[in-house]
Amino acid sequence: AAVEQPIIIERQGRVVIVTLNRPAARNALNAEVMLAMGNALAPLDRDPGVGCFVIRGSEKAFAAGADIKEMAEKSFAEMYNDDFFAAWDRFADFRTPKIAAVSGYALGGGCELAMMCDMIFAADTAMFGQPEIKLGVIPGMGGSQRLTKLVGKAKAMDLILTGRMMDAAEAERCGLVARVIPADKLMEETLKAAETIAGYGKAATTAAREAVDRALEGGLREGILFERRLFHALFATADQKEGMAAFVEKRAPQFRGE
Ligand code: CAA
Repeated sequence: AAVEQPIIIERQGRVVIVTLNRPAARNALNAEVMLAMGNALAPLDRDPGVGCFVIRGSEKAFAAGADIKEMAEKSFAEMYNDDFFAAWDRFADFRTPKIAAVSGYALGGGCELAMMCDMIFAADTAMFGQPEIKLGVIPGMGGSQRLTKLVGKAKAMDLILTGRMMDAAEAERCGLVARVIPADKLMEETLKAAETIAGYGKAATTAAREAVDRALEGGLREGILFERRLFHALFATADQKEGMAAFVEKRAPQFRGE
């Protein structure tokens, strides 16, 4: 049988379409996906013939977060020593414009991956959220920093503290999403925009990105490192073990505040 690739990369002219391909796990972002997103895309990012990336998942899920099953048993020392999630910085730092085409769930690391892109186009079926609190942790791939910069403190606190989901219409109202598109037209419209962007000079699109990002990035690096260290530290708590074990065992967690 063919070996399943964690991500599928297709080239259409100057546009590269990257499809997250772990449908049975709702595209949960495991280490293999994280490394592939950095390593496999790096040469394409440097290729002058590539003008735009489109990142997509499946119809049902863009990505349901970091892979809980992979993390559930980890200790603080393991998380800290591996600098777990640091490899995502490679993807975030690519200079080629990237559009996230989000259909279905974009939760936890899935929402954070979408926010690493330059803009999010959402199908009307999209659902966004940072539900890490339900697992006894907090966002660990930049969510506390990027979401707050993108939608402001009130909405970021609401989502991160309650762990609730928001739909595409709310996500557009609060500025997380650039466009909401009927689900069956999502790829058509996203590819049209990607081709437009890829048709411009790469120095200009790079400069445009850099300039817009300057408006938001003050202190972001420190914020992300601070967030990641806290995320690691939560792996020293019993509530993280309980929260993730309960998810794996399909039962309600019993948090004890320790
Ligand atoms: N990690 C690992 N496996 C996951 C997963 C995840 N984040 N999300 C879903 N899966 C798995 C499920 O365990 C299930 O596996 P089995 O078939 O082996 O039981 C399979 O994907 C299908 O999931 P569901 O049956 O739950 O599918 P659903 O359609 O009923 O629900 C969902 C979809 C609402 C997304 C639900 O799966 C869910 O709530 N997932 C977890 C969301 C979450 O907590 N995300 C945050 C993760 S932590 C994180 O991301 C840290 C960070 O900041 C980077």
